[in-house]
Amino acid sequence: MVENPYCPVKAEITDIIEETPTIKTFAVKPEKPVSFKTGQFVELTVPGVGEAPFTPSSNPKIEDSMEITIMSVGRVTSRLHEIGKGAVVGVRGPYGTGYPLKDFEGKEVLIVGGGVGLAPLRSLILALLDEAGKYKRIMVKYGARSPEDLVYKDQLKEWAGNKDLDIEITVDKSGEDWKGNVGLITTLLRKDIGVDISNSAAIVCGPPIMMKFATFKLVELGYKDKDLFLSMEKNMSCGIGKCGHCRIGPYYACKDGPVFTYDKIKEYHTIWE
Ligand SMILES: Cc1cc2nc3c(=O)[nH]c(=O)nc-3n(C[C@H](O)[C@H](O)[C@H](O)COP(=O)(O)OP(=O)(O)OC[C@H]3O[C@@H](n4cnc5c(N)ncnc54)[C@H](O)[C@@H]3O)c2cc1C
Ligand code: FES
Repeated sequence: MVENPYCPVKAEITDIIEETPTIKTFAVKPEKPVSFKTGQFVELTVPGVGEAPFTPSSNPKIEDSMEITIMSVGRVTSRLHEIGKGAVVGVRGPYGTGYPLKDFEGKEVLIVGGGVGLAPLRSLILALLDEAGKYKRIMVKYGARSPEDLVYKDQLKEWAGNKDLDIEITVDKSGEDWKGNVGLITTLLRKDIGVDISNSAAIVCGPPIMMKFATFKLVELGYKDKDLFLSMEKNMSCGIGKCGHCRIGPYYACKDGPVFTYDKIKEYHTIWE
């Protein structure tokens, strides 16, 4: 019998971490291991409600469970935010090509994230840190609306003390206790950023408007289009290259992406929508 590609594996929610008022991280344990490469995504089903694509935020080395960080924006995600530990959901995938870690070896890797866009990037950062010696340098620039909106607050503190990682955080609007940088993510992409751009790859993930201006800024700094890796979180349905919902020019974001180098997709005006 041919296996139904749309059939999810049952998975239990084993833990839920409240990251911000609108973002939660769910620890998901599938009935059988779903191993993924960093940057690949899965379709998560809430029985009776529907399914939506998410990129696991955990270390891909861990194969029997995964963490998925989800912002509540609509039908599926708001229902997910209501469910509790022990609930059963469905997982199918993984899909897409993920981050090409081999291409980053020997380079200065600059990771630029905005808001919940740090979710797929956390998985990438954890994978890079596991083999930190392979990369010349690992830098993270992360921006959120306010200190309250930062995800992975404990992990950000831990990363700040990690000698293999150079992390800088900014918020659009500060709070009373905030002693860090205030300003949009682009304020962290200064001319004196101190990166050897000719030997660097930059990876960008976040809301479309943030991705657009961060990408433009990186190009202005001297990055070549082929060295910019963008996560295109387009509207998706099937996840397997059948329905056409996720088209970017000749590409299907679900199959050919969701990670694309900027040179491949820059001519398609829909990329920032
Ligand atoms: C490859 C990929 C990876 C993703 N990873 C994550 C992740 O790790 N964490 C996370 O919180 N979100 C992620 N998203 C976005 C997530 O899939 C959407 O937020 C989700 O599909 C919304 O479903 P919903 O039923 O709750 O919202 P709906 O009721 O369908 O829509 C509510 C609102 O969200 C918008 N919307 C719907 N789908 C998307 C979408 N795919 N992208 C952007 N806006 C959308 C709609 O235009 C509408 O304004 C990812 C998307 C893709 C394609
Ligand atoms: S989501 Fe159906 S073709 Fe990509």
